[in-house]
Amino acid sequence: MRPGDVIQTKRDGGELSHAQIAAFVNAAARLDGSGWEKYHLTALLMAIYLKGMTPAETAHLTRAMAESGTRLDLADIAGPKVDKHSTGGVGDKTSLILGPLAAACGVVVPMMSGRGLGHSGGTLDKLESIPGFNVNLTEAQFRAALRKVGLGMIGQTADIAPADKTLYALRDVTATVESIPLITASILSKKLAEGISGLVMDVKCGAGAFMKTREQARALAESLVAVGTANGLRVSALITAMDAPLGRYVGNALEVIESIEALKGNGPADLTDLSVKLAARMVELAGIATGPDAEAKVRTALSSGAGLDVFRKCIEQQGGDPRVIDDYSRLPRAPGTVPFVAGTAGSITSINAEQVGIAVRVLGGGRNRAEDEIDHRVGIIVRAKPGEYVTADQTVFELHGCDAAKMSQAAAILSGAYTLGEAPPPEPPLVLGELT
Ligand code: URA
Repeated sequence: MRPGDVIQTKRDGGELSHAQIAAFVNAAARLDGSGWEKYHLTALLMAIYLKGMTPAETAHLTRAMAESGTRLDLADIAGPKVDKHSTGGVGDKTSLILGPLAAACGVVVPMMSGRGLGHSGGTLDKLESIPGFNVNLTEAQFRAALRKVGLGMIGQTADIAPADKTLYALRDVTATVESIPLITASILSKKLAEGISGLVMDVKCGAGAFMKTREQARALAESLVAVGTANGLRVSALITAMDAPLGRYVGNALEVIESIEALKGNGPADLTDLSVKLAARMVELAGIATGPDAEAKVRTALSSGAGLDVFRKCIEQQGGDPRVIDDYSRLPRAPGTVPFVAGTAGSITSINAEQVGIAVRVLGGGRNRAEDEIDHRVGIIVRAKPGEYVTADQTVFELHGCDAAKMSQAAAILSGAYTLGEAPPPEPPLVLGELT
């Protein structure tokens, strides 16, 4: 089969056959001189971006990508295995809270996460701010964590969905990331390879998200549910607001502190409520409880401290220092803090999550490119959230940084990252839609 013919089929709006998709995915996984070069792959990616894919094509692409590498078989570990995945946001630390809560309710949570890129953060970076925490467990260590703690939090190993690694890197530099079939296949291929039976998707929508409008977010959520189901995975999706940062702390070590506070029952309402809702969906997919009973179970795991206990055990099991739970001074901390004051009195009407994420990246807490090093210490605490009133000398943002020049650059970004008005805006809903 000639690559040019496959590209032509899609360029002309045709449907790719299973054999054509298999050839494309094999080439992406191996780049072995089978006639496909990188320029063929990128041409086909652009044709898919422009012409789309049918649900059947997307389902087949997803399965082929999942099968391009190792697929974990966790059948020998007792219990229902359910993971959660977010499409990415600012201050989105729910994984650190809902993973322990769901595990405390009896769900086995084999969580494979990613690193932050651009303005959005990544679970692995947050966890690595805990001294000693190892996100690169061997398969045997990962299985041991799941058996002992019910929760393992690691990065994707090199042999999980290798086709996605090639394709994602090519999409990143060829303006073909924002394609619903390609995003669906990329996310679900990695999740199918994890050996889970259920997946809760948190599809973020708004200024700080990939999907800026509700229509785009709904289309992605529908595609994820349909394609997951077609591949034997139970997928439940929430569409949730990402206009303002979630919670108040943004930046790696700072987000660990806010997550621990949430597990102690002291978290901000938006972060706690979303984490509980997502964990309840995991409990439902696991078949442990349904509806209000699932949420009540999760709330009990929170109020009893059972979730916090799982997080402590998880840190210990993965080589981290569990004393951070009771002593935040054991986490890396930026040497300097600077308040950014409102300047004018009024009600905060909006905080732009993307701008806050960019300011954290400028401080050193995020990446421009996948290979960049990050500084776990830096970040921003949002002291005034939408709906709150500030006086002229009150702090809106607290910058935690290590370098004066970067801090003043971040402050300049933050000056355009919020709006003030006379009256507080109506409280926006956090959950914008639900699909099962
Ligand atoms: N996250 C992924 O893993 N893949 C995409 O294509 C987009 C977001």
